[in-house]
Amino acid sequence: MSTSTTPTDVITFLIEQHNEVNDMFSQLEQMDGATDDKVQQLAEQVVTSLVKHSVAEEIYLYPTVRKVLSDGDDIADHELSEHDEAEQTMKQLEELSPADEQFWPTMHELIGEIRHHVADEENDLFPKLRAACSEAQLQELGRKVEQVQKVAPTRPHPASPSEGGALAALAPGAGLVDRVRDALSGRGR
Ligand SMILES: [Fe+2]
Repeated sequence: MSTSTTPTDVITFLIEQHNEVNDMFSQLEQMDGATDDKVQQLAEQVVTSLVKHSVAEEIYLYPTVRKVLSDGDDIADHELSEHDEAEQTMKQLEELSPADEQFWPTMHELIGEIRHHVADEENDLFPKLRAACSEAQLQELGRKVEQVQKVAPTRPHPASPSEGGALAALAPGAGLVDRVRDALSGRGR
């Protein structure tokens, strides 16, 4: 007797995450120029989601891309350089509070970079990948990508007070981007 449902294939899963991030961006765009805590919270939420998404793609998706597509190395290298670029922007953002003059311009830069990256993946990479992989392969990847994102950042740390939770306990002094990345890639453990 099994209670497991059909696993989501990796492409469907990643597109759902793109849509969630895009919804957060739309909410932020509606708050354009605001300086309150809600902006700060949503900015942190979107950065956390993006880093988790990026790390999962880097660990499981791009190695597969390199293996199964004839131009896989070029595509993976290109996507990785875009992740780097967005991560630099997120690191600038994490140093800023919504009241800082550079906060909103930096947020708009991030939104532009990510929308470009998402369009690249959804219009070019994902269709190629779907054509090159079996459904079973895509489901297996989906399981792994889903699993890696469940790691540490959302799990409360037993030794830490509720304030800050697992993220604060992982690497004191490190910024949000590094803390999430370290937690998922195992560097923080
Ligand atoms: Fe993506």
